[in-house]
Amino acid sequence: MKSIASAPGKIILFGEHFVVHGTKAILAAINKRVTVTTTFTEDDTVKINSELGTLNVPISSLYKYKEVKSEFRPFVYLARKWKTSLGLGFDGGCIPSGLEITIDSDIPIGVGLGSSSACCVAAATSISGLFNELSSEEILKTSIEAEKTIFSDTSGADCAVCTYGGMIEHPSIEKIDNTFDLNLLIANSMIPHNTKNSVEKVNKFKENDEDRFSQLCDLETKLIDKVIVAMKNNDATTFGLKMSENQKYLEEIQVSNDTLRDMISSLNEISLGSKITGAGDGGCIIALVNDDNMDKVPALLGKDKECFSAKIDTKGVVWKIEK
Ligand code: MEV
Repeated sequence: MKSIASAPGKIILFGEHFVVHGTKAILAAINKRVTVTTTFTEDDTVKINSELGTLNVPISSLYKYKEVKSEFRPFVYLARKWKTSLGLGFDGGCIPSGLEITIDSDIPIGVGLGSSSACCVAAATSISGLFNELSSEEILKTSIEAEKTIFSDTSGADCAVCTYGGMIEHPSIEKIDNTFDLNLLIANSMIPHNTKNSVEKVNKFKENDEDRFSQLCDLETKLIDKVIVAMKNNDATTFGLKMSENQKYLEEIQVSNDTLRDMISSLNEISLGSKITGAGDGGCIIALVNDDNMDKVPALLGKDKECFSAKIDTKGVVWKIEK
């Protein structure tokens, strides 16, 4: 029996970093996916096959998951959680079975498009699916627990949009219907980043200047409220302006760099607004670009940058069993 789940990647339209400190954020799931397939095996191990390599470790709770490479930890955590919760027993337990988990992904890794969160959501669904079907709320809760094994400060916003799909406000998880056609371009700086390090950097900024950080959180909240009105009013111009305003706040908390600034300014003449998406310090930017101008993008950004048009995924996580 195979339990197969797939979850979408994501972009953060507004509110990254500030959301970790309690503000709202707006996110959208995108049409790039990770698929996780889980099967039982006869030995007491967790076996993982992925483009990042393979892992084969005892499923036993005696084996510390902290000794596992960070990208594989959520899978070991989830495998153990489900085996333990069903009382199947590890060490000398009654059923000597392990799990084989295979990950196939078309989400670029480490560039702010939610590869890690989508993996946690798809893995939580696929692994638990061997035993029973989880509700969306349970999938979200479990995937956030898994994500915390690599990044304890996560706001949970990324896992939320990968679970539910579409465009959502966080933390309410209310769906937002976009009335105008969002022509969002995603451009990859090709600089890998580490979300945990960027979030720690922002924590230091906050420690050094609590007052300014709290002002920026208030500004971000007001900005998001205006974006929601702009979307209801079909007002792409305000939406774009708010993207650029949000970028100024991200510059101020120092998660931008010269490459990202150059990419954003290169797109100025053809976009209504642009900003970092995700943790920053590398990764991707997003820009609101008119359809007519899309063909000018490669020349403006240069050949070394990857860019594509973001299509919003509406399905969220999907799951099936194959006998
Ligand atoms: C990363 O995609 C988004 C951050 O806001 C972190 C988080 O929300 O957990 C930087």
